Amino acid sequence: MTPPPKKFKNPRLRPGFQGRSCSIAALGSYLPRRVLTNADLEKMVDTSNEWILTRTGIKERRIAAPEEHTSDLAAKAALLAMQRANLAPDQIDLIILATITPDMPFPSTACMVQKKIGAFRAAAFDIQAACSGFLFALEIGQHFIMAHTVDTVLVVGAEKLSTIVNWKDRNTCVLFGDGAGAAILRNCPGSHGLLTTCLGSDGNKSDLICMPAGGSKCPPSAHSLASGMHYLHMDGRETFKSAVNAMHMAARDALRRCDLDISQIKCVIPHQANRRIIDAVSERLGATPAQVFTNLEKYGNTSAASVAIALDEAVQLGRIHKGDLILLIVFGAGLTWAAAVIEW
Ligand code: ACO
Repeated sequence: MTPPPKKFKNPRLRPGFQGRSCSIAALGSYLPRRVLTNADLEKMVDTSNEWILTRTGIKERRIAAPEEHTSDLAAKAALLAMQRANLAPDQIDLIILATITPDMPFPSTACMVQKKIGAFRAAAFDIQAACSGFLFALEIGQHFIMAHTVDTVLVVGAEKLSTIVNWKDRNTCVLFGDGAGAAILRNCPGSHGLLTTCLGSDGNKSDLICMPAGGSKCPPSAHSLASGMHYLHMDGRETFKSAVNAMHMAARDALRRCDLDISQIKCVIPHQANRRIIDAVSERLGATPAQVFTNLEKYGNTSAASVAIALDEAVQLGRIHKGDLILLIVFGAGLTWAAAVIEW
């Protein structure tokens, strides 16, 4: 009897990786309660709902309370994911947290989360790849599992961007929001899980999006504070162009590695930065609007949390079912970018 034609190629299935797969066992997300609408922003800077909506697609975003830190958002998302996976805190071997807004420069926010969720057996560390952070962290976590080092990894993307946004700068303050998304990675025999991830960076364009002060290059000083160097700075136009190119190339490479055509993808989940970026990337990939999931109108750009929150929401809304193929595509400061293909 001839075997059925292969649906796709799993690039991880090679000697040494046989028999060990890594899947997302559960997801969780958390959005702070306070909603900041475009109408609210009209009262803060010289902007309009019409401009924000047509240029970005964003209607509102969430803002964390002053006493709510990035680790609090992360812990709430993580606890929901753990509950859905029926996972006790002491079953977590490793916590990897992606953020550009850590509670403090050190110790890591992952250690704060460890304390808040009681996962005291876990090792914990942060990674930083800006808006691409969740996919970078997912790929790191999956390698720990594939290498038989650990069995259960908690991956979190969490941001309190409202603390680094200049609320007087209309070029940036309309774009960002706070939130967190979490995934539990486990070795799930019999499933394919995370099929591939294409990662990329371009340090030549590190000036396009950055926070110039607060690090060793420009330590905090009266001058750095007075000149607003502790805020997020961005060249929007150049970032836009780089984002479209990088996201398209990464997605194409990820599909090619798996011998997949875009039509075989059930759900494309891009970084939720700008509706026009998402439309341009989707068009270049040949993805139909029905394939592409967006929720940026409600939350704006939540950087490392963005794609994690969107993935959780897509699953909760029944847009993704077991066996479906999913394409995640991200882009951020660094520059950094990534695309991942997952069999759900
Ligand atoms: N309200 C009204 N007018 C505005 C606003 C605003 N909120 N912001 C900018 N403008 C004005 C500008 O001043 C400019 O006016 P001018 O022509 O008189 O100079 C005009 O609108 C057009 O400005 P552009 O920069 O050309 O606007 P564009 O269409 O490019 O949209 C935007 C700007 C939304 C920032 C877009 O470039 C973008 O989304 N860039 C990508 C951002 C991104 O993806 N970041 C991801 C990474 S973030 C991270 O990693 C943390």
